[in-house]
Amino acid sequence: MKNLKKKKILLIICGGIAAYKSLETIRILKKNGCEIKTILTKSAKEFVTPLSISSLSQGKVYDDLFSVENEIEMDHIALSRWADLILVEPATANTISKLAKGSSEDLASTVILASNKPIFLVPAMNVRMWEHASTKENLEILRKYSYKIIGPEVGEMACGEYGEGKMTEPVSVVKTIDSYLFTISKNSKLKALVTAGPTNEYIDPVRFITNKSSGKQGYELAKSLSRNGYQTTLISGPTNLKITDEIKIIKVETAEQMFKETQKNLPVDVAIFSAAVADFKIIKKKNFKIKKSDKFTIQLEKNVDILNYVSNHNSMRPKLVIGFAAETNNLEDNAIKKLKNKNCDMIIANDVSDRSIGFESDFNEVTIFYKNDEKEKLFLKNKSLISEEIVERINNQLN
Ligand code: CTP
Repeated sequence: MKNLKKKKILLIICGGIAAYKSLETIRILKKNGCEIKTILTKSAKEFVTPLSISSLSQGKVYDDLFSVENEIEMDHIALSRWADLILVEPATANTISKLAKGSSEDLASTVILASNKPIFLVPAMNVRMWEHASTKENLEILRKYSYKIIGPEVGEMACGEYGEGKMTEPVSVVKTIDSYLFTISKNSKLKALVTAGPTNEYIDPVRFITNKSSGKQGYELAKSLSRNGYQTTLISGPTNLKITDEIKIIKVETAEQMFKETQKNLPVDVAIFSAAVADFKIIKKKNFKIKKSDKFTIQLEKNVDILNYVSNHNSMRPKLVIGFAAETNNLEDNAIKKLKNKNCDMIIANDVSDRSIGFESDFNEVTIFYKNDEKEKLFLKNKSLISEEIVERINNQLN
């Protein structure tokens, strides 16, 4: 597990019977060259002692937000910045609930709330607690916030019951983290480009033709790509959305501008065309505001197909070209046609006749059509989670 070498791991141990397993996790992380600092929640101290943790980890153990000594030595912000990665193990139902609410009532939750690093949760709890709707809802929220969840497994629990809720074994936890770090470091050498949002095609200086695309799915895809290590450029039509600093954002208005910026930003390794580019532009745009009394007709001509241009480029075709197909009918036929006609590796198709998903909505349900004739449905989820799943497929394809 060579990706762990010299990595700084902040281990947060919560109060559950599985807390004793964190000693084994520390042992494996140390063996693989990690530097470890630990936070023990108040109830974790009922299960493991700071002394055993510090002896094994050879690192500092923090246990109280208001400890004067700790605050002087290292404040909670610095602690979250120090880490390359935060591992919460075991993550109890109570901790999961606190994190879903964005609580900051103790050192552990404050550090997590203040963190800008990947956070892995390793749940462990009784099967009924795990299956409870509130836990499921909390996990859904945490996934949306990009927390990564490892496990739990099915098995016999400390309480004697059998079912899902048993903490994943430390060796598997560490392996998952190692393979995550491997993907990130490999992807950091790769470039990704995403087009998003609508375009405006001007009739006169104040009027234009546009569409209902919100850009949400494209922005979420750019964020997922960036979180997965890709150097990401987002070329966005007009939206009100914000994007994180790590992403290079280029704002455009018209299809022509989007096309020019796309050309300028090639070559890339993966390109996702999620923009709802207007198919037509106005042939003779008026340079002055058209008056009611004016007699005029609008003539349209086709805009350049940006996706088609990139996917058929002789020298700069990305390794992976992904298009979108927003359809109101014959979803599968139209998507497959687009996949072939536009020379894509993947087409992500969604049914925009249902107003609760797709355009403008925070949710989406898509079917991915692959070049090798396979297809795969990603069921209704918020657009951030759908993006994580799509980027997972991209990682696999590039491998
Ligand atoms: N696309 C593009 N440039 C265009 C038009 C579309 O890059 N000028 C991309 C979109 O970003 C999307 C894919 O092509 O990834 C399919 O777009 P869509 O509007 O669904 O298809 P069209 O090519 O416009 O075909 P049709 O109007 O027949 O549905």
